[in-house]
Order: sequence, then C-alpha cells, then structure tokens
Amino acid sequence: MNDEKVRVGVVGLGYWGPNLARNFDRLANAELAYCCDLDEANLVKARELFPNVLATDDLGRLLGDDALDAVVVATPVPAHYALGKRVLEAGKHAFIEKPIALKADEAEDLLVTAEAKGLKLMVGHLLEYHPAVAKMKELIDAGELGRVFYAYANRLNLGKVRKDENALWSLGPHDISVINYLTGEEPEEVSARGECYLQDDVEDVVFGYIRYRSGMVGHLHLSWLDPHKSRKITVVGEKKMVVFDDMEADRKVTVYDKGATTTRTKFETYGEFVTLHFGDIHIPRIGNDEPLRIECQHFVDCILNDEQPRSDGRDALNVVRVLEAMERSLREGGRPVKTTEL
Ligand SMILES: NC(=O)c1ccc[n+]([C@@H]2O[C@H](COP(=O)([O-])OP(=O)(O)OC[C@H]3O[C@@H](n4cnc5c(N)ncnc54)[C@H](O)[C@@H]3O)[C@@H](O)[C@H]2O)c1
Repeated sequence: MNDEKVRVGVVGLGYWGPNLARNFDRLANAELAYCCDLDEANLVKARELFPNVLATDDLGRLLGDDALDAVVVATPVPAHYALGKRVLEAGKHAFIEKPIALKADEAEDLLVTAEAKGLKLMVGHLLEYHPAVAKMKELIDAGELGRVFYAYANRLNLGKVRKDENALWSLGPHDISVINYLTGEEPEEVSARGECYLQDDVEDVVFGYIRYRSGMVGHLHLSWLDPHKSRKITVVGEKKMVVFDDMEADRKVTVYDKGATTTRTKFETYGEFVTLHFGDIHIPRIGNDEPLRIECQHFVDCILNDEQPRSDGRDALNVVRVLEAMERSLREGGRPVKTTEL
C-alpha cells in the first residue's frame, strides 16, 4: 500500500471536517489526498489550508481513484448512510462521523457491506479515544470498581439550539457510545422523556435510560437549555466510583474509594445489612494527547495492520439502536422500548 501510507479523502468540510482533514494531513503514515464538499466557499478554504490536496465537489473523482484507500464522511447525518454505502461499494475503507446513520437498519447495512467487502468501517465516536475514557475502562476492566451498578452522563449547556435534530441526536451519541464501551455490553431496553420549550417537536431537554442485560443501567441528561456547562460521566461501582469531568483541565478523572456492600445473610439492623466504605480520593494522571489525533491515527493503523477499529460498525450500530429506540420512546410518552423491537 503506497509505501505504507494510507491515502485519505475527506468529504464534508463545514465545521468539523477541516479538523479531521488537518489531523490526517499531519499523520506520518497517512496522506490527505482529497477534500470534497458541495459548497464552493468551503473548497476555496480547503485549497488555502491544504495547497497540495485536490479539492473537488465530485465524490466520483475520489471513488474512481484506485490509489485512494479511504474516505472520511463528515457531512450532516442524513447523508451519512448513502455516502457511506457508495464509499464501501467503491472498495474504500470508510470513517463516518457520528451517529453513523439515522436508522439501525441502515447502520446494519453498512456493517454487512463492509464485512462482505473486507473493508474497515469506523465511526467517529470521539470520546472512545479520550485518554480519560481509556483510564476509566482500564479501572473497570481491572476490577478496581468491583461490579458496576450504574453510570450517568450530563451533557448540558445554554446554546447551540438546533432545528434539524433534537438534544438526543445532537448530544446523546457521545455519552451512549462511552457507556456502551465502558460496559462492553449490548443495550437491551431504553426509555426517554423530553420536552420541547423553544421549538415545536424539537426536544431541548431529554432524560434517557438504558438498561443492559446484566442489570447495569445508564442514564443521560442532555440539554441545550441549562445554566451549567457540564460534560460529565459518573460510574458507580460496588467498590469504587469514578468521575470523568471534561470541563476540568487537570483533574479529568477522579477515583473515589467509596462503596457500599450488603450482606444477604441474616441481619438485624440496617448497619449490619449495609457496609459503607469511605476511603481516599485519587486523581490519576491523564495524558493530554488530542483525542481526535488518536482517533485518526487509530483508523490509519487499523487499515495498515488489518485490525478491527475500536469504534467499529457493530459499535456504531449499537449507538444508533439506542438513539432510534429512545426516539420511539420519546414519541410514546417514555414507554420502555426493547432494542430488538426496531
Ligand atoms: N466528533 C465530534 O465531536 C463532532 C463534532 C461536530 C460534528 N461532528 C459530526 O460531523 C458531521 C458534520 O457536522 P458539521 O457540524 O461539520 O456540519 P456542517 O453542516 O457544518 O458541515 C457539513 C458539510 O458537508 C457538506 N456536504 C453536505 N452534503 C455533501 C455531499 N453530498 N457531498 C459533499 N459535501 C457535502 C456541506 O456543504 C457542509 O460543508 C456530523 O455528522 C456531526 O455529527 C462530530
């Protein structure tokens, strides 16, 4: 493969695409070969930023180039499925921004297509590449937290009110992907309630609940109508509890040596039934590598080493399943919806 360099094209150069293009452009074992956007003004900017790259509004040019290995799709979500399908059918590895599609059926079709063609399919679940999330996963997998009871995420702010998607689709994919990743389980049942205060039929605030097969639970509070700017995930285990606070500069992860254990045997008082444990609070050192650089490097490494991406097609599908099932629950007054109902 091209002297062990992966040749990449980025499609969609609005707000997010240039960040992806910049990262692929800087990786030692990748070459940014194309930028593609339907908007001429974005192509002009791309030519300024990346003078050696071919900027075009014609995706066909990328797909027809036999020397192009991979395509990154960073367009608005409704276009992800159709573009991703074209990319895979043209025999290119695909990196598609989150959420990978609007329907579980579509996400599954992308997964099946990539598998049938032996291509890499990766979704941009950026937080799965955050060093703080890697630390949480390490602690959970090493058994430091004991049995994980539940996790909850707050993604709140005032602003960035969207018209074309609600707070669930806009803010939820990050937290859902992290909670799925930390548990390593398939989500089984979800419910969601939300309210539309600023626009008809677009929820500004959503409360979501995910139940996993083991009984572990995830809760989401998503809102663009809130006085706090909060990006926080708390995991409560039997032995320890851990918090990832992305608003903190140098204490992204805090581990609380706190827990509660119960005895199932004979007891007479509450004190005999529950043992509470209060220990030290620990702040592990977290590397400050840019998660987006780690994510882009991972995609390139998976292609070069023929490995399965961490945020692969299955992971992408599980997030869309939760989103689609929560959307159904929102429309049906919070009814619990099984992911198998979709
Ligand atoms: N991982 C993250 O943290 C993160 C952050 C922001 C956005 N995103 C994701 O990135 C994607 C893009 O979001 P954005 O905010 O940059 O959107 P945007 O609207 O700012 O930009 C999208 C661009 O895609 C172009 N486009 C649309 N259809 C096209 C097509 N068929 N061919 C070529 N170009 C096309 C548009 O002209 C536009 O320039 C979304 O999926 C979003 O969820 C991810």
